[in-house]
Amino acid sequence: MVNENSLTPQDESHRVATTDDIEVSTYLEIAKEIGGQQPASAETAVSGAEREAIIVLDFGSQYNLLIARRVRESHVYCELVPHDTPWEKVAPLNPKGFILSGGPSSVYEAGAPLAPAYVYESGLPVLGICYGMQAITKQLGGKVAPGTKREYGHAVLHISQQDSPLFEGLTESTTVWMSHGDKIEQMPQGFTALAQTENSPYAVIGNGKGMYGLQFHPEVAHTPEGKTMLHNFVYKVCGCKGNWTMGSFVNDSMERIKEQVGDGKVISALSGGVDSSVVATLIHRAIGDQLTCIFVNNGLLRTEEAERTLKAFKSNMGMSIIYIDATDRFLDRLKGVIDPEQKRKIIGEEFIHIFEEEAKKIGKVDFLAQGTVYPDVIESVSSVSTASAKIKSHHNVGGLPARMTLKLLEPLRFLFKDEVRLVGKQLGLTEDMVWRQPFPGPGLAIRCIGEVTRDKLVILRGADYVLMNEIKKAKYYRQLWQSFCVLTEVRSVGVMGDFRTYGYMVAVRAVTSDDAMTADWARLPYDLLARISNRIVNEVSGVNRVVYDITSKPPSTIEWE
Ligand code: XMP
Repeated sequence: MVNENSLTPQDESHRVATTDDIEVSTYLEIAKEIGGQQPASAETAVSGAEREAIIVLDFGSQYNLLIARRVRESHVYCELVPHDTPWEKVAPLNPKGFILSGGPSSVYEAGAPLAPAYVYESGLPVLGICYGMQAITKQLGGKVAPGTKREYGHAVLHISQQDSPLFEGLTESTTVWMSHGDKIEQMPQGFTALAQTENSPYAVIGNGKGMYGLQFHPEVAHTPEGKTMLHNFVYKVCGCKGNWTMGSFVNDSMERIKEQVGDGKVISALSGGVDSSVVATLIHRAIGDQLTCIFVNNGLLRTEEAERTLKAFKSNMGMSIIYIDATDRFLDRLKGVIDPEQKRKIIGEEFIHIFEEEAKKIGKVDFLAQGTVYPDVIESVSSVSTASAKIKSHHNVGGLPARMTLKLLEPLRFLFKDEVRLVGKQLGLTEDMVWRQPFPGPGLAIRCIGEVTRDKLVILRGADYVLMNEIKKAKYYRQLWQSFCVLTEVRSVGVMGDFRTYGYMVAVRAVTSDDAMTADWARLPYDLLARISNRIVNEVSGVNRVVYDITSKPPSTIEWE
């Protein structure tokens, strides 16, 4: 029997970045706490005369980030902005067209969100998706009414106007993904129906002047030719040139960093994670020793983690790094603490103390660099919080005190995670760094159930090292969102040689996920699990039992604490 969720080993050296690689935010808390100066979006996007952008006006659909992602995959810069963003804010981006997103509202309800007048008055092309299409219809004098039944799922689209630029390269019929309750009863004047589904006579409408509406979602994978339609919209309808590449981003970004920082000083917390590594490398490339990185070893890192990160950045790239081995400080404060939240709080606070102490020693510092990425920005703008954020006090480094009046430098704040990885590659970071699985700020403390002691950390590090080694050897590392060991408090009886043992039980956790908000346990092959278990029990003293965690999130979480 073939299991839908089963994984197969992959040639990991050629994997292309996908949206599946989006990781959790790292230093969001700092940004919120110090409320540093956020650059206007126009300053951090594509620069100069070459600038062109597609603006997605956000009406609240869960797929909105995906629209921006798809457009960018076509090498056209795209930003998602709240639906009521004023023209002054979008004009500097040099928009070539607008996309009105889907959303949960009904246009005929009082107070339903609508597009600003400039969308219709600018003469630029407009593509309305689902709710966006209904907004266009209502605002231009057509009629939208509640549907008799909700249309949800696959539908077959029949194209009646094959010569529309939107459909270039498409066959007469194609599958699309529907998710709507309302329907168009009467198109606005000047519009005609370009394609139909069984239930939607107006599945695609257009006015011959660059304005289109789609009743379905072209951005989702369930609409296989949706990407082509979006591509056609940006190139054939909006006339974009397609200058959004990671190479152009790196060059533009370095220029902007130089301009912004002048002869000021920048500090950054380096953790070895993808975002902080890319941000440090990019800034270092732009301004050299004006950047100082602070790397705090909290004693909760994995085998050789500190050494490897230091070697990569200090020896190989010549970065100025302050390395603080604060193991004793963290472990002393964690003595006797068993409550997971308490552990998290202590680690966050201690980090801030140390970071602040070290920053003071540097003297006058002007900027704090952070690895904020686009999904974090969107999340904070739309105040959609992750379910996990309410369950655990999620953060890497807590929040820096408001008295540290630093300006923020966030060169990655308009990039998706997979774009960050591509920038990392462009900057010459090793594959190992660019493809690192997420590792939580509180580190091994939240994988060591109960009190964190040095002895238990030695055991956990040993087990985790074996697991990673086997996962990488079997070529599963990149397919897994995360894979790690948890040292439980359970001890059980075993037999080794002729002797009775009474040892710890290690739990192996391996999950697949798109965004860490939901996750599934990975269906790793039995023989791989057997090898992992065998090696851990044989090579890690103190462990005589290994179990595999087969719970998904929800109802579990990825980490155990
Ligand atoms: P949970 O355990 O809530 O974790 O399902 C979701 C994702 O977040 C990571 N995680 C953290 N990341 N600081 C971080 O930067 C934290 O305090 C933290 N706690 C959990 C976890 O590894 C998973 O990827």
